[in-house]
Amino acid sequence: MPFPDGFLFGAATSSHQVEGSLDVDGRGESVWDAFARLPGAIEGGGDASVACDSYRLWRDDVALIEELGLQAYRYSIGWSRVLPDGRGRVETRALDHYERFTDALLDIGVTPMITLNHWDMPQALMSHEGWVGRESVGAFAEYAEAVADRLADRVEWWVTQNEPWIIALLGYHLGLHAPGVADLGKSVRAAHHVLLGHGVAADVLHRHPGAKAGCALSLFPCDPASDAAEDVAAARGSDGYVNRWFLDPLLAKGYPEDMWEHYERALGEPLDFIRAGDADAIAGRSDWLGINYYTRRVMAHAEVTPQRPFPWRVVGPRGDVPRTDESWEVVPSSLTGLLLRLHEDYPDTPMFITENGGIYGDSPTHDGRVHDVRRTDLLRDHVLAVEAAVDAGADVRGYLHWSLMDNFEWAMGYRPRMGLTYVDYRTGERIVKDSGRSYAELIRNHAH
Ligand code: FCB
Repeated sequence: MPFPDGFLFGAATSSHQVEGSLDVDGRGESVWDAFARLPGAIEGGGDASVACDSYRLWRDDVALIEELGLQAYRYSIGWSRVLPDGRGRVETRALDHYERFTDALLDIGVTPMITLNHWDMPQALMSHEGWVGRESVGAFAEYAEAVADRLADRVEWWVTQNEPWIIALLGYHLGLHAPGVADLGKSVRAAHHVLLGHGVAADVLHRHPGAKAGCALSLFPCDPASDAAEDVAAARGSDGYVNRWFLDPLLAKGYPEDMWEHYERALGEPLDFIRAGDADAIAGRSDWLGINYYTRRVMAHAEVTPQRPFPWRVVGPRGDVPRTDESWEVVPSSLTGLLLRLHEDYPDTPMFITENGGIYGDSPTHDGRVHDVRRTDLLRDHVLAVEAAVDAGADVRGYLHWSLMDNFEWAMGYRPRMGLTYVDYRTGERIVKDSGRSYAELIRNHAH
């Protein structure tokens, strides 16, 4: 295996998806609490009030991480736990909790990776429309400061924002995630403020020697459905929308012109909320890039309509291809291609796979075990895909599987299962799946 010394294998979760205990230690409401109350917002009508009960059972989580032999664990801080009112008062009980958890990981030799914003913005910040308002940037800096002051002396890897595109798309354009806003113009503003938030949080973190700031992007390689010039243009356009709109400003190139024009045309107005100086406040602050990779997009040309702001549409792959239970195509080779492309387009940027996984509904069989063969294969094939990229020169520092355990999958509720560990939501019991066991073995074989 060509994995470099210090390459880290691990798993990831986020606060709102695993913690439960939404009303303890002075936690304030987050946008997901309010969103979950809207009729029909969450499939099955569930909410995150118990989830995996990780806030209470955090010692069990540490034991599970140890049992699997994970070298790194990515988790997030509950933003509305630390700043219950959005600004001002800092809740020290929340910081105490995360400090205990972080120290327990360090004690067993696990490298912590902390995400600051994994979507649970305090509901109080909706007074300025959440990320739509530029006030969100200052509020995020305040939060970053509270967390960094407590933990940046011992944590090296920091994710400022998780998936700016998904926040903007699902949270502010389609209204399918909290805060449930459905407005293209607002989503473009929100995305910009999320990126500015990365900038201010990175500046806060950099006041602590050794802290490395990165943003985790949901990257989807975009392939044309055919060789026709208009499909090739559709794939390029979609790449601008999904990938380059975030990669370019973060990694020092500024916003891509092609996508800027698409937005101005679609919105019928200039993007004047992007002010002089903003590009400089976003760029040049990433010590590394987090990559959340699940699948690719196969794109074809399409006419712009009132419902379709851009001249492209997702058509998906032709024919029978491997898919997860949620129908996403499983295509590990696209991950290799993505890593090599990033290595070329954004040289000197260390990369980390901050999420990768799949939805498979396997549950315990008569022997009490979970034989999730497809997840085991998916995991192995994606690790091999990373290996191929590393072999070809890409600077990848680690691989984190999503997720350590089944959890609250946002608007899809508890139906999709993505864990290396099965969670029985009725009893709280956790059962390591076959995929978890085989991952543990893979890590043992490749541990340095
Ligand atoms: C990503 C999210 C993560 C989880 C996975 C399946 O978009 O970052 O919280 O929901 O997808």
